[in-house]
Amino acid sequence: MKKITFIGTGYVGLVGGAGISEFGHSVTCADIDQNKIARLQEGEIPIYEPGLESLVKQNVAKGRLHFSDNVPESIQNADIIFIAVGTPQGSNGEANLSAIESVAKTIGENLNGYKIVCTKSTVPIGTGKRIEEIIRSINPNSDFDYVSNPEFLREGAAVKDFLHPDRVIIGTRTQKAIDVMGEVYRPLYINETPIISTSVETAEMIKYAANAFLSLKISYINEIANLCEAVGADVHEVARAMGLDGRISAKFLHPGPGYGGSCFPKDTHALAATGQKYSSPLYTVEAAIKTNASQKVRMVDKLQRLMDGSFKGKTVAVLGLAFKPQTDDVREAASRVIVSQLVDSGTTVHAYDPIAMDNFKIHFPDIQYFDSWQDAVKNAHACILLTEWNEFRGMDLNELKDLMKRPVILDTKNILSIHGLESSGFTYDNVGRKLHL
Ligand SMILES: NC(=O)c1ccc[n+]([C@@H]2O[C@H](COP(=O)([O-])OP(=O)(O)OC[C@H]3O[C@@H](n4cnc5c(N)ncnc54)[C@H](O)[C@@H]3O)[C@@H](O)[C@H]2O)c1
Repeated sequence: MKKITFIGTGYVGLVGGAGISEFGHSVTCADIDQNKIARLQEGEIPIYEPGLESLVKQNVAKGRLHFSDNVPESIQNADIIFIAVGTPQGSNGEANLSAIESVAKTIGENLNGYKIVCTKSTVPIGTGKRIEEIIRSINPNSDFDYVSNPEFLREGAAVKDFLHPDRVIIGTRTQKAIDVMGEVYRPLYINETPIISTSVETAEMIKYAANAFLSLKISYINEIANLCEAVGADVHEVARAMGLDGRISAKFLHPGPGYGGSCFPKDTHALAATGQKYSSPLYTVEAAIKTNASQKVRMVDKLQRLMDGSFKGKTVAVLGLAFKPQTDDVREAASRVIVSQLVDSGTTVHAYDPIAMDNFKIHFPDIQYFDSWQDAVKNAHACILLTEWNEFRGMDLNELKDLMKRPVILDTKNILSIHGLESSGFTYDNVGRKLHL
């Protein structure tokens, strides 16, 4: 059993910490956010993630999972320190590494004996080297090995992804560190999960290369969807037939309002910035970023067309605020751009999301929030569906029509049946499929 500390107890730190305690290790999740730690110490889970509450509670009950706002002490007590703080987008597109640098400094000040320092946060290529330099500049005699262990979990399925990953990447220079990390992930090793050893730089690159590729796939299918609309093709049939080609695969070929979330937007920007820095531009990634931004705006234009060209004095119901289902995360969600444009154009916005409303309220305190989709759509001139929550898939379209002032809907996730919309008399649009105005 290893003594492990996670610094940063967010989506990755809390899921990762609980997951590694489930593997049998003693884990402390530390954070400078005292309120978050106090809530966790009282048994309250500060984020929504399916299966997380029971995973945390079980491991706390077994005495393997602890929470602390004393980061220095948590470093001193650990054999392995995972860094899982945020790396948001900076003003120039590059990742903002201020939290990483601050943690590296705290680690340098508190290293006492041999430890592994392991970064789980997504950090630009070369950051591992910088973290090592910061630690050694503060503590020249420090004895540690550095590991890059990027995380691939998806919000909404984070617990499952962490406990059953497709692969684990261990980027380090020493066999000793590979062996220790092998012990950390021992249950996965027994399950024959591929555990791949690389250099630190390669591990850092793998994470960005994977996220940017998935973003490319989404932007590509969105552009194909837009062209489908123009030429009268059906993007779902196109995507299905494309996906049956094993070289392409069916995943990430779902058209929509543009990707969001805390990873793809910032990671594509950071990779593009790295490419520019090294005079090795990533034109494809830069194009995916542009396509994604215009896709969000395109949704507002579509809605405006459905509403006879004007939002003024009208009410729009926004169904779904989270950037994807099964999460409360609204970072970079399409809803943020779309609601902002609606508000700017004088529209009254009625919003509903089963989980993410509290987080959305932080950014949009002045729009109107409702406790059910039925209440949100009441007397609306149009409805825009932005997140494919199951409860929206199951909406009774006749009930929806009766509640609205006008039966107008933009289904940006293509989850409603065209047949159902037509037979209920809706004026509707979607992304890349048959259009009836
Ligand atoms: N969220 C995801 O789906 C996901 C998936 C894979 C990788 N990642 C990467 O993991 C990293 C963390 O992402 P997240 O979504 O968990 O972020 P988050 O914002 O949910 O959590 C970050 C936490 O770090 C804490 N923190 C900040 N500075 C600190 C400091 N100096 N000392 C201690 N704690 C500090 C914050 O209080 C916060 O609780 C990012 O680099 C992200 O790109 C995220």
